[in-house]
Amino acid sequence: MDFLPINVPVLGEAEKRAVLSVMDSGKLTDGSYEGGRMVKEFESKVRRLLGVKHAIAVNSGTAALHSVLVAMGVKGGDEVVVPSFTFVATANVVLACGAKPVFVDTKPDYNMDPEKFRKAVTKKTKVVIPVHLYGYPADMDELREVAERHSVRVVEDAAESLGAEYHGRQTGTLSDAGCFSLYATKVATSGEGGAVSTDSDELADRLRLIRNHGVLHGYDSRSLGFNYRLPEMAAAVASVQMDRLPGFLEARRRNARVLDEGRRGIPGAEFRQRESDRTHVYYLYTLYLKKNRDAVLERLNSKGVGAAVYFRTPVHKTPLYASEGLSGKALTQTESACGHVLSLPVHPGLSPADVDRVSREFTRAASALL
Ligand SMILES: Cc1ncc(COP(=O)(O)O)c(C=O)c1O
Repeated sequence: MDFLPINVPVLGEAEKRAVLSVMDSGKLTDGSYEGGRMVKEFESKVRRLLGVKHAIAVNSGTAALHSVLVAMGVKGGDEVVVPSFTFVATANVVLACGAKPVFVDTKPDYNMDPEKFRKAVTKKTKVVIPVHLYGYPADMDELREVAERHSVRVVEDAAESLGAEYHGRQTGTLSDAGCFSLYATKVATSGEGGAVSTDSDELADRLRLIRNHGVLHGYDSRSLGFNYRLPEMAAAVASVQMDRLPGFLEARRRNARVLDEGRRGIPGAEFRQRESDRTHVYYLYTLYLKKNRDAVLERLNSKGVGAAVYFRTPVHKTPLYASEGLSGKALTQTESACGHVLSLPVHPGLSPADVDRVSREFTRAASALL
């Protein structure tokens, strides 16, 4: 019995050829302000997909988020509003700037609650980072309205949502800057990697400097920067994956429809991300199980279905944030989600028979345990 992992990279001959061509060129990276040939090619594909003025490739989603906060001048004494129901990177980049992450609760759809954001704003709030969790867009209109009223800048954590749309516009283009990840499990991947999208010339210029130790020409380090450059081999893979993205998303959506069909008639399992004004890329297909989540998880894993829990612990309850004194807040929806969510494999590496198996095993486990 094959084990069906929660996510796998889908790589083929085109990616292999792209890597080999970089190896043959001998140019593995490029320390110029503009970046290397493959970096530029990847960036142009991101710009085209999103319809934005600038895309800046970096070497992780974390680097994307960190460089945007640095470019915006976030520093000690500032507050940055973040969800706690997310991957730690969203908050860690705030600490990395010496600023304070202010955790707010989510709505039942697992994304930031605009009303909770409004209540969290203080004079120190500089930025808010909504996350489009699992590939499903957050309430950007409402969040942006609050942000604009209080002169707070908005940065989208679109690490999981490449290709998702909100009111007909791509996530990552609905704010000052969008941050994407190309980590090995993501909807398009280069193993590690990331990108920032923005329409601001000024921000784009700062980001290009930040990814390269503040160097514009030669060795003229002008401002604080880091090595956030995406290697050419990774950029070459990412570029091919951008071409394949529409097919990947179609497969994810097709698989999600099969899973929807399978769980019909199981009242104990809710799918909570389905407003008609936005599209889901199903980075994860996540259900809210009213009870026995861990028993269902165990049963599925024992049957070779790599169901998984994202996230069992809210960021503010991790030891790091406890040691920062930030664990005290009660975030009801977040804690409820941590105790009840379960994600099923939905990725394009699944054959139709695999998806049927995931669906069948889930229905069996749920019928027995829910
Ligand atoms: C919501 C979210 N934010 C940020 C990141 C960080 O991206 P990376 O792992 O590429 O640094 C990830 C993915 O890992 C993520 O899922």
